[in-house]
Amino acid sequence: MVDKKAQLKLEGGKKTLELPIYSGTLGPDVVDVRSLTAEGVFTYDPGFVSTASCESKITFIDGGKGVLLHRGYPIDQLANNSDYLETCYLLLYGELPTKEQKEKFDDTIMNHTMIHEQLTHFYNGFRRDAHPMAVMCGVVGALSAFYHDSLDIDDERHREIAAFRLIAKMPTLAAMCYKYVIGQPFMYPRNDLDYSSNFLHMMFGVPSEETVINPIIAKAMDKIFILHADHEQNASTSTVRLAGSSGANPFACIAAGIAALWGPSHGGANEAVLNMLDEIGDVSNVEKFIAKAKDKNDPFRLMGFGHRVYKNFDPRAKVMRETCHDVLKELGTDDPMLELAMKLEDIALSDSYFIEKKLYPNVDFYSGIILKAIGIPTSMFTVIFALARTVGWIAHWNEMISGPYKIGRPRQLYTGAAKRDHVSIEDR
Ligand code: SDX
Repeated sequence: MVDKKAQLKLEGGKKTLELPIYSGTLGPDVVDVRSLTAEGVFTYDPGFVSTASCESKITFIDGGKGVLLHRGYPIDQLANNSDYLETCYLLLYGELPTKEQKEKFDDTIMNHTMIHEQLTHFYNGFRRDAHPMAVMCGVVGALSAFYHDSLDIDDERHREIAAFRLIAKMPTLAAMCYKYVIGQPFMYPRNDLDYSSNFLHMMFGVPSEETVINPIIAKAMDKIFILHADHEQNASTSTVRLAGSSGANPFACIAAGIAALWGPSHGGANEAVLNMLDEIGDVSNVEKFIAKAKDKNDPFRLMGFGHRVYKNFDPRAKVMRETCHDVLKELGTDDPMLELAMKLEDIALSDSYFIEKKLYPNVDFYSGIILKAIGIPTSMFTVIFALARTVGWIAHWNEMISGPYKIGRPRQLYTGAAKRDHVSIEDR
């Protein structure tokens, strides 16, 4: 590694600090600031806009060029040539599987899809109109109760089995959320179906008849899973890493990731996009909402637009848009929502505000339209995002736990009261 240094002269300081600079395979250099604490100063970076929290080999994003690589493979190539379980294997092990490895991995996952029967009673504690993400936070965290004592996070095999269980069981738990809300019986997984077809079976199948899966829809579902599988150190992945850094079990860490994903600024945006398009209603109202999005005094934001990293375009949105057209063509539906979304995209992308602020459609802008066309209710959109992102979360958790790590413990800039003595209530 080239011996590069940054020099930091503290105001009025008698000395200049030399901070090591590290270069990765791709992307910006990083300045190692760990020695600053000993000098009595902290870095200050609310929202971690300029902070590299870890070293990782899993995913690389170039926001300026719209590049997203998983273990070096571009997302559009994976979306068009892999399936979700192959992408899971790649994220977990770092290489594309051989034919034999793929068959063994697929079998392992598809034979872990059932959940402990006791867990089905957990759902009954929720109201039927509970938001499915609230249910997922609960039931995924509850998996800890079924595996906690059989899990040594320092044992590589135990970590691998936890990864298998989570990837395999998330579709089952997710589909059960939907069935519970609509009052239909839970559908058991079928090992003879592929991962995405099995999910659609558990979502839309009923015990009274054979489930018929449309292969085009199953392929679109699989592509959506691939496009949401991982995305570097985003808010929910950073939450999983922080939870894992305390030694918490992986099921609890994934539940923490689900909670973080739920917010409308993050994974909740796909649900928010559909609600926003619903509210806009017609192309004639687009200008009004664009004006609201530009108004500093209006908290309204154009959901599905903008990204902390992508300042050019989100490569996933491009693939998602193509998939959107394929699905609507296959279903023979010309959802006016899509027309509206494309109009909104055209108008926003020609508006100087969005151009200056580099706000482009992100992964969430089109995904909701596809999911709605497949018949998935809006409230389930973020659950599907969580299902797909589980492999990314667990890959990052495993990468951290399998090497040396420290408990995450940021500091602060304190601007509260200086030390003062207690005053009795009589004297206040
Ligand atoms: C995901 O991190 C990831 O990788 C996340 C994700 C993943 O796969 O894990 O990619 C998934 O979360 C995608 C993002 C989904 N969220 C949305 O679509 C919600 C709408 N988008 C915004 O809330 C916003 O763009 C964020 C949260 C996504 C990014 O916000 P940043 O990077 O913190 O940027 P910012 O809030 O500082 O905004 C910069 C400027 C601001 O204006 P100024 O204060 O500079 O005048 O752009 C404006 C913002 O007001 N702005 C928007 C806007 N997004 C940013 N204005 C209108 N509409 C928007 N959508």
